[in-house]
Amino acid sequence: HRHLLGIAGLQPWEIEFILSEAEQWVALNRSGATKRDDRLRGLTIINAFFENSTRTLLSFEIAGKRLGADVVNMHVAQSSTKKGETLIDTAMTLNAMRADAIVIRHGSSGAVDLISQKVDCPVLNAGDGTHEHPTQALLDALTIRRRKGRIDGLVVTICGDILHSRVARSNMISLTTLGAQVRVVAPPALMPEGIASFGVEAFNNFDAALPGSDVVMMLRLQNERMQGDFIPSPREFFHLYGLDSRRLALAKPDALVMHPGPMNRGVEIASHIADDLERSAITEQVEMGVAVRMACLDILTRRARGVEGWS
Ligand code: CP
Repeated sequence: HRHLLGIAGLQPWEIEFILSEAEQWVALNRSGATKRDDRLRGLTIINAFFENSTRTLLSFEIAGKRLGADVVNMHVAQSSTKKGETLIDTAMTLNAMRADAIVIRHGSSGAVDLISQKVDCPVLNAGDGTHEHPTQALLDALTIRRRKGRIDGLVVTICGDILHSRVARSNMISLTTLGAQVRVVAPPALMPEGIASFGVEAFNNFDAALPGSDVVMMLRLQNERMQGDFIPSPREFFHLYGLDSRRLALAKPDALVMHPGPMNRGVEIASHIADDLERSAITEQVEMGVAVRMACLDILTRRARGVEGWS
């Protein structure tokens, strides 16, 4: 089976194909009351989220249901993982129930890849540790493409906790693959070593990175992944790396503001900027998330449904 484990390994045309397939689902989702297409009728999709989620879990659930699938969410807190069952045994259990696709979020980088090697259906990575969050990068690319008309040649500045961010990692790979010039901004302690290998330009000074930016993407501090040796105070972080009006004025006049969520208002982004619908695409990103996940579920189950296509 073909899986979606990361953006790494996808060809530019494959990313473009998913984005173009997603456009029909944007249209369907905006079409009115009946947002249904039953092409996945009879298929069972299991969402197994071992980390918290609002956007990704719900949009995968909505995406599967709008395509007519039976969608089941595994409630990890009430599951037998709490009785010591291993990840692989849990995966084998889901597999034995003959799922047609499994969507997994896990706190360990590589865990989703491991599961994909053990099951008989497509596996979609909904975020694994600090590794990748491919559907987030795809929905971000779709949002940028719709707002700016293109991705090739744009300057995209990503600021925040780059070290712990699977969103930053997937976006660096996706956006450079699609021809954008990517700048990443973080305090030295939150900048990964060897960042230049992603083909991006690294900055510690946010003001220096902003001029010429077409898109400014803000990320939250992932305190839950920090060891306690470096947890910036929210006030200090906002002072040095928060997006406020003065900083946004340094970017291009029509620069688009993005944030994958969840946001910490007043820490990485000023509230009035997040809520400015002219400049901020934050709610549009969520909307695109449903369409992109519909496209991914459709494309990855085509082989099992006997439909010609990418998989
Ligand atoms: N952007 C994102 O992954 O949000 P959730 O953690 O709410 O799914």
